[in-house]
Amino acid sequence: MTDDEKIARDWINAVEINRVREADIYPQLKAWVHQISATDILDVGCGQGICSEKIDLGLRNYTGIDLSPILIDRAKQLYNSENRHFLTGSIYDLPFSDSSFDAVFSVNLWHLLSDLRKASAELSRVLRAKGKLPHYHGKSERLFIVDRFIH
Ligand SMILES: C[S@@+](CC[C@H](N)C(=O)[O-])C[C@H]1O[C@@H](n2cnc3c(N)ncnc32)[C@H](O)[C@@H]1O
Repeated sequence: MTDDEKIARDWINAVEINRVREADIYPQLKAWVHQISATDILDVGCGQGICSEKIDLGLRNYTGIDLSPILIDRAKQLYNSENRHFLTGSIYDLPFSDSSFDAVFSVNLWHLLSDLRKASAELSRVLRAKGKLPHYHGKSERLFIVDRFIH
């Protein structure tokens, strides 16, 4: 098993048994999706795509992107559907046209990024005017939400 495979495997196991996320991140995410009027939603650093299952998409379109091909393969296996799509890629060079999404969210991603300015610029580019950008992050088993609104 390569290091990348081990990291991906560890993450898959951690997420699928972590009950804090069930009690906190997912309900917040679900509530947020209900309150915004968005047609196209991007999940950056989506991992194995588990968040796509925790929100009621309705007629909305969900796209998940992640650096790890191993996690994206699992996301495709588990969650691919007509309005859920997954692809491999980096936040620093998103393979989307300008203004492609009404909303972009990320869960537990930003602490891994070395160039926040570049990442923010890419998200700003792919977000439509008044797009929504919440970031969910776990800290000491407590979770908090930072809302940033790009106008
Ligand atoms: C802690 S995991 C969170 C996964 C998912 N958001 C979740 O909460 O289930 C962080 C993820 O960010 C991805 N990642 C790290 N750097 C990235 C980058 N530059 N662009 C896209 N994804 C990245 C990793 O591959 C990993 O899957």
